[in-house]
Amino acid sequence: MARIFLGIESSCDDTAAAVVRDDRTILASVVAGQTALHADFGGVVPEIAARAHAEKLDGCVEQALAEAGLRLDQLDGIAVTAGPGLIGGVLAGVMLAKGLAAGSGLPLVGVNHLAGHALTPRLTDGIAYPYLMLLVSGGHCQFLRVDGPQDFTRLGGTIDDAPGEAFDKVAKLLGLPQPGGPAVEAAAAQGDPRRFALPRPLLDRPGCDLSFSGLKTAVLRQRDTLVAAQGGLHEQDRADICAGFQQAVADVLAEKTRRALAASPAPVLAVAGGVAANQTLRAALQAVAEAAGARFLAPPLRLCTDNAAMIAWAGIEAHDAGQRDGMDLAARPRWPLDQAAAPMLGAGKRGAKA
Ligand code: KG4
Ligand code: ZN
Repeated sequence: MARIFLGIESSCDDTAAAVVRDDRTILASVVAGQTALHADFGGVVPEIAARAHAEKLDGCVEQALAEAGLRLDQLDGIAVTAGPGLIGGVLAGVMLAKGLAAGSGLPLVGVNHLAGHALTPRLTDGIAYPYLMLLVSGGHCQFLRVDGPQDFTRLGGTIDDAPGEAFDKVAKLLGLPQPGGPAVEAAAAQGDPRRFALPRPLLDRPGCDLSFSGLKTAVLRQRDTLVAAQGGLHEQDRADICAGFQQAVADVLAEKTRRALAASPAPVLAVAGGVAANQTLRAALQAVAEAAGARFLAPPLRLCTDNAAMIAWAGIEAHDAGQRDGMDLAARPRWPLDQAAAPMLGAGKRGAKA
């Protein structure tokens, strides 16, 4: 018999609830963003995020159930992001999920947010294990080999900023609006990627680890050099810097992806995360995948970025694998998917990296 799960997500700056059936049907997916609340601060403010989650979660769950046309007692389980992320938000979601599970008697499953992203291509395209996942968002950047719903091997990741964070910072440096990714991509469309020589960090080192903070600093220096020489930035300067930066990110991600596919061949390369919206990056990754004989898969953007359908789906898969959580389910600020991998450094403005 078909099973239907409620998913709850509140680990960063999107409050989300969704209802998903185990035949991969998304019955409802509600996402309430908080961009406006954080706009004046140049980044996500954890306390503001936590408060907004606490205020919005109930309504999101009610709306998702209403859109699905179901009552809680018609569902088969509750999946909630239990980490990693900004702890106040994660706690708000976990507390709500516990309350709903206690009140309804439904099974509770705590989901790793990164597993939600990593399992999305199974929800959207029903692909089989194993596959390679490149997660590129404002908070995360890692290569994962996915062998099962709870079987992840991290092949590499960023040692500092996530690429989305770098896009956002570059936009800020150049006076472009937030979120920076779309603004930088739009400016880059008019630019010459070869005008400024920007670095390709860590390409000279073996392996699949990445670094983006030096690239951001190189953009800062380039901006300052131009401002000192000519008293400001012309439109074309901005476009050329954006194009150069975007090309550097694409080159680095493409080469590291090539290495990841060589080290761990897989029939599919899938991407997730908001940065996967970038057309230059997509084209570069698609070319690398095809050269390695792998299919390139980019889920629809609304399922690439933070949402609760991916959490409900990961909950269904974890439940199938026998996972059951109790009222002692912990909210975890850090929670690496691959427990065997060495911890990554740093914690970005959107919370812990893993
Ligand atoms: O996955 P996401 O919605 O949120 C989390 O980080 O959890 O990703 C948002 C990030 C932002 O940093 C945004 O600037 C970036 O994705 N982004 C892009 C593009 N669209 C969004 N980066 C590059 N090019 C884009 N077109
Ligand atoms: Zn995410």
